[in-house]
Amino acid sequence: MTHEPSGLLAGKRLLVTGVVTTDSIAFHAASTAQRQGAEVLLTSFDRDRERTEEAAEKLPAATEVLQLDVTEEADFERLQGELRDRWGGLDGTLHAVAFAPRAALAGGFLDAGLDAVQKAFATSTYSYAALARVLVELAPPEGGSIVGLDFDAGGAWPVYNWMGVCKTALQSVNRYVARDLGPRRIRSNLVAAGPLHTRAAGGIPDFELLTGAYERRAPLAWDPTDAAPVGDTVAFLFSDLARAITGEVIHVDGGYNAMAADLAPER
Ligand SMILES: NC(=O)c1ccc[n+]([C@@H]2O[C@H](COP(=O)([O-])OP(=O)(O)OC[C@H]3O[C@@H](n4cnc5c(N)ncnc54)[C@H](O)[C@@H]3O)[C@@H](O)[C@H]2O)c1
Repeated sequence: MTHEPSGLLAGKRLLVTGVVTTDSIAFHAASTAQRQGAEVLLTSFDRDRERTEEAAEKLPAATEVLQLDVTEEADFERLQGELRDRWGGLDGTLHAVAFAPRAALAGGFLDAGLDAVQKAFATSTYSYAALARVLVELAPPEGGSIVGLDFDAGGAWPVYNWMGVCKTALQSVNRYVARDLGPRRIRSNLVAAGPLHTRAAGGIPDFELLTGAYERRAPLAWDPTDAAPVGDTVAFLFSDLARAITGEVIHVDGGYNAMAADLAPER
C-alpha cells in the first residue's frame, strides 16, 4: 500500500533559500513545510554551504542543498534547469536572503558609499525578482507562491540604515511581482517579522535597540529567540488556504506594528 503524504502542503514542491543555521527563519519555514507534507530543497552558496548542509540534517526530513548565490545571474539559470530535471516544476519558493556591508548598516546614513548600497540592494531586494522569475518558469498552470521576509520599514530605525531602504523597496517589489504574476495565479507576499537572533541579526550593530523596542510595545510578548511563528506563517502563505492573498505584508511581530506607542517602559 502506498503512503500518500498528508498535511496542508501535501504534494507541494518548495525551494527554500536562506538556511544557514537552525536559528535561520528559513530553517523554521522548511521544518513546518515538511511537517505539513511538502517536499523541500534548500539552496546555499560558497561560504555558507557547509553550515547549510549541517542545518539541513536537522530538518524533520534530510534534504539536499543546491547552489545559489543570489548575486550571480548564472546561478539562477542553472538552478532552474536542476529543478526542472528533478521535479519537473515548482509550487513555491521562500526568499530569505539579506546582506549589507557594514558601511550600509551602521554609522552615518549619508556616509555609506554607492558600492556598499548596491551590494545590499542586489543581495536583499533585486534577488526577490530574480527568484520570482524561476518560479514563473516552473510553476504549474494551477499557480504558485513566492514569499519573502521583511523587517517593518514604515519608519527610520535607530540602526539598520540602508537595509531599511532595501526592505522598503522589497515591499514595492512584492507589489509589482504580485501585479505581473497574478494572471498566472502566482501569489507574492512578505512576512514582516519582529527582531530575531539569527546570524544576520548578529551583523546589525546595536540590535538590542530593536529587541528592546519590541519588548516595550508588542502586546503579545515577542520572543526574539523563537522564529517558529514566522516559519508557520510562511507555510500558511504557501498553502491553498492563502489562495486569495497577494501583494500583502503579514506582520508576525507580536502586534508591535499595530501599536502607536510603547505600552510599558520595561517588562
Ligand atoms: N533576524 C531578524 O530580526 C529578521 C527580521 C525580519 C526579517 N528578517 C529577514 O529574514 C531573512 C532571513 O534572515 P535571518 O534573520 O533568518 O538570518 P540568517 O543569517 O539565518 O539568513 C540569512 C541568509 O542569507 C544568505 N545569503 C546572504 N548572502 C547571500 C547570497 N549572496 N546568496 C545566497 N544567499 C545569501 C545566507 O547564506 C543566510 O542563509 C532576511 O531577509 C532578513 O532580512 C530578519
